[in-house]
Amino acid sequence: MKTLFSKFKNLLLIGAYKILVIFEKLTNKGIALDFISKDYIDNPYKTYNLMRSHKPILFSQTTRLHWVTKMEFAQEMLRDKRFSVDDRKYPIADKRRKEFKKAGREIMLEQFENPSMLKLDPPDHSRIRKLVQYGFTNRYISSLEPEIKSVVDNCLDKIHNQDSFDLIEDLAKPLPAIVIAKMMGLPDKDLDQFQSWSEDLLVGVGGIGTSKEDIKKSGDAYESLINYFEEIILERKDSPGEDFIGKLIKAEEEGDKLNIKEMYGTCLLLLIAGHETTTRLIGNGMFTLFKHQEQFNHLKNNYNLIPNAIEEMLRYEPPVHATVRFAENDMTYDEKSYKRGTAFAVSIAGANRDPEANKNPNEFNILREEIKHISFGYGPHMCIGASLARIESRIAFEVLFERYPGMALLEKNPVWGKNLIFRGFNHLKIKS
Ligand code: HEM
Repeated sequence: MKTLFSKFKNLLLIGAYKILVIFEKLTNKGIALDFISKDYIDNPYKTYNLMRSHKPILFSQTTRLHWVTKMEFAQEMLRDKRFSVDDRKYPIADKRRKEFKKAGREIMLEQFENPSMLKLDPPDHSRIRKLVQYGFTNRYISSLEPEIKSVVDNCLDKIHNQDSFDLIEDLAKPLPAIVIAKMMGLPDKDLDQFQSWSEDLLVGVGGIGTSKEDIKKSGDAYESLINYFEEIILERKDSPGEDFIGKLIKAEEEGDKLNIKEMYGTCLLLLIAGHETTTRLIGNGMFTLFKHQEQFNHLKNNYNLIPNAIEEMLRYEPPVHATVRFAENDMTYDEKSYKRGTAFAVSIAGANRDPEANKNPNEFNILREEIKHISFGYGPHMCIGASLARIESRIAFEVLFERYPGMALLEKNPVWGKNLIFRGFNHLKIKS
């Protein structure tokens, strides 16, 4: 009876969604952000391009967000104090608090009230970011290069006698997870467990057509990760050590720098941001190269071009497609009025394809000069791990080309994951 009821409820929801799509098309000259359609999932850029040429800030009924697809506006919103990331300040927060209470999610509610720096405005944002930045100096990140190379080699050694392999499962997923775990000082034995928690967690963030079961799975994973960090931090209080978690523990003990909840949030953010995104960069980048065989051939004979190719991969198929900002107060922007708390989806993927930012933006070109992208964000929240992600992916591509110069896609059209925020593959089968 319960399944029948939930099937009926799902049908109603899909029906309501389809009506919204029709309504959105009627009000926006035939354009709609129909995020469950196959067309959108296969090629969301077509929709973003249409949205930008119609209205660079377009309200979408299906997501209830104002989508910003023009580079100039996207950059301004990411750097300007009139736009905030802290959703606790706006009316939407009460809805979230009620949802957490109704679902009995005490831990999530506590973390919502003590968010990571990604969801903090100044001065709290600057306080925590300063602490975390100490762990990501260019010198330290460059010193990790030999270790990153040996992680790549170990991953590929495991599959050396196979005719084919899964780029995601065999390399793109474990590589950044092992590196961030080492930086944070997490035990190797926990790797599989936290990777699976973080995958489950992301199903609930921007997932398309997410079921009730998946939302529960995502909430459970979130709470398990927080409990996990709580245990690790408590265990290590007496001898914090010199790794990242050790440094956070010392900062917490020094007093006003970081509270314990903020510490859990910081660990969670680094773990998730540290590997889910880089996994997608390696997968999306390699897929795009396979679809542009001449460039693939050119790159495998010219390793010096790999860094520029990575910037073009980031621009063309960014792992993070959008991020949200709120109007701090009632405001006028681009001659339109917005109420305090209005939510804007800054479309990283849309801005990267803005013809005012890059010439022929829908063309993939590893030789492109002056690549303009905001795939690592822009302004005060710009990605802290960008240089780590660049080094990891460069080494991954170099070693892959070296070992498998004749590699090719096994499936012509692998399936893109269904997510509005994170774009990438769960599997990418390759003939070695
Ligand atoms: C290809 C890989 C990556 C991509 C595409 C990426 C993308 C992004 C983006 C778009 C933001 C800004 C979000 C916003 O403004 O709302 C961001 C922030 C952040 N990223 Fe990354 N990231 C990547 C890798 C990493 C890695 C490897 C780490 C750490 C190990 C990391 C840690 C962070 C942190 C801590 C922030 C928050 C910074 C702040 O709020 O001040 N990221 N990232």
